[in-house]
Amino acid sequence: MLFFKSLSLSLLFLASRVLADDNKCSGDKNVTAQSDLDNISSCSKLDGSLYVNNLQNSGVTVLNIDGVKVITGDVEVSHSQYLQTVNFQDLETVSGKFSIHDNTRLNSLPAPKLTDVGSLDLMVLPALQHLQFNSGIKKAGDVQIVDTNLEDIQGIDVTSVKSFNINNNKYIESIDMPQLETAQSINIASNARKVDVNFSKLANVSGDTNFNGISNVFVGNLKSAKGSLGFTDTTLNNVSLPYLTSVSESLYFMDSQDLNSLSLPNLTTVGGSLTINNTDLAKISGFPKLNEVGGGLTMLGNYSYVDLPKLTDVRGSLLLESKSSNFTCPFSKSDGVIKGNDWTCKGEVSSMAKSSEVSATATGSSDSSASATSSSMSYSGSSDSHGKSASSDSGASTVAFSAGIVGIVTLLGAALSL
Ligand SMILES: *[C@@H]1O[C@H](CO)[C@@H](O)[C@H](O)[C@H]1NC(C)=O
Ligand SMILES: *[C@@H]1O[C@H](CO)[C@@H](O)[C@H](O)[C@H]1NC(C)=O
Ligand SMILES: *[C@@H]1O[C@H](CO)[C@@H](O)[C@H](O)[C@H]1NC(C)=O
Ligand SMILES: *[C@@H]1O[C@H](CO)[C@@H](O)[C@H](O)[C@H]1NC(C)=O
Ligand SMILES: *[C@@H]1O[C@H](CO)[C@@H](O)[C@H](O)[C@H]1NC(C)=O
Ligand SMILES: *[C@@H]1O[C@H](CO)[C@@H](O)[C@H](O)[C@H]1NC(C)=O
Ligand SMILES: *[C@@H]1O[C@H](CO)[C@@H](O)[C@H](O)[C@H]1NC(C)=O
Ligand SMILES: *[C@@H]1O[C@H](CO)[C@@H](O)[C@H](O)[C@H]1NC(C)=O
Ligand SMILES: *[C@@H]1O[C@H](CO)[C@@H](O)[C@H](O)[C@H]1NC(C)=O
Repeated sequence: MLFFKSLSLSLLFLASRVLADDNKCSGDKNVTAQSDLDNISSCSKLDGSLYVNNLQNSGVTVLNIDGVKVITGDVEVSHSQYLQTVNFQDLETVSGKFSIHDNTRLNSLPAPKLTDVGSLDLMVLPALQHLQFNSGIKKAGDVQIVDTNLEDIQGIDVTSVKSFNINNNKYIESIDMPQLETAQSINIASNARKVDVNFSKLANVSGDTNFNGISNVFVGNLKSAKGSLGFTDTTLNNVSLPYLTSVSESLYFMDSQDLNSLSLPNLTTVGGSLTINNTDLAKISGFPKLNEVGGGLTMLGNYSYVDLPKLTDVRGSLLLESKSSNFTCPFSKSDGVIKGNDWTCKGEVSSMAKSSEVSATATGSSDSSASATSSSMSYSGSSDSHGKSASSDSGASTVAFSAGIVGIVTLLGAALSL
């Protein structure tokens, strides 16, 4: 009897100990002091989330999270102005978010063993200059690095990400992701002016890709872009995408005044519009297989010719305007390539003899005034919705001819008035 009693007592004691341990190592922990972290340092796994939020005037500058290897919820360290160091010495895995944001003085974030996170958010960390993910993060869902003083993003060694957003980090000069093969979306914008981007293995992006403000880019393995793909406000000299066969939405190269060479030898389809505006391209070429553009075709610049040898179908409108007096419109209304109604295709006219400009606006379009008021000579008329009533060739010569007559008449008038 006594034996059974003591046995059940000790069982009870064991059970309560296990329960206590369970409590200690499970549930969300709101940390306000190092002692809170010392409580859980014997938990190699925390079943819950770890929050360090709003430590404003506590004077805490350093926190050490020792012992904890796995956190099944989130880690969030935020709005703690005086924190300078948060040390995740033993942390390996965070199933939820690893989110460190809005900590103005945080300059040291060692996580030497961290390899797996549900997602990684580093935002508004103006004192953080270096990452200390010494083992390399091998698995992350979304990666978001916004508004930091980081100089590079070493230690993010993922092969696949959901969204990858590196934005407004004024000191990041290099974004090198040698392992990355697939992403759902990529946004690189407003980092250091000279940032070099190398996604040497990136093959597929299932959503949008945007490169803004970069000076070199290597994405030479990209095969498909299921969203849009764009390069804006860059100092790139060239873009080469040898394996890219299709862009499901828009493709654009804009505000890149050093861009003088494009090479997309395998590209056959652009699902949305194709825009090239404000670049240094002297000719539009590098699209030898491009066959189909689902949206409009817009090309503005100083190019003297457009070489799109396989292009047979543009579903949207045409806006080709070149500052070059040498430009000849590569399309005519009769060739049936451009299916959209709005049609502008013109170069700068420096002399009548060189005129090759045709600008026509179809019925129902609101934009006839733009071409009519342009200083260069233009032909504005209407055509039926299939664009078959005016061919650019006859239109051009008619314009040149009638303008010539007008010129002679004006000269005669001037002579007569003398
Ligand atoms: C702990 O912090 C979280 C997130 O900041 C908050 O939602 C929750 O109410 C806090 N819990 C306690 C017990 O303070
Ligand atoms: C740490 O332990 C102390 C004392 O048992 C307790 O008051 C405090 O709430 C614990 N902290 C956390 C985050 O669980
Ligand atoms: C890009 O990175 C790969 C792999 O690290 C390297 O081999 C290649 O030389 C780099 N390319 C450029 C243009 O920097
Ligand atoms: C990329 O997509 C193509 C088909 O679109 C597929 O064959 C290939 O395996 C994909 N590559 C990766 C790395 O996912
Ligand atoms: C592309 O630009 C890079 C960097 O500006 C340059 O080193 C390289 O020679 C250029 N390649 C081509 C084919 O023009
Ligand atoms: C086009 O892609 C194929 C395979 O996808 C590749 O073998 C070929 O070299 C590419 N063409 C060019 C001009 O790079
Ligand atoms: C072309 O780029 C210039 C300069 O950035 C801009 O002002 C203009 O609106 C752009 N036009 C189109 C049609 O994108
Ligand atoms: C286009 O040419 C004009 C006049 O020659 C020049 O002022 C302008 O800067 C050039 N634009 C670009 C993008 O090179
Ligand atoms: C104009 O075109 C001719 C013939 O295509 C070419 O030889 C010449 O270099 C071009 N001039 C300019 C300024 O583009």
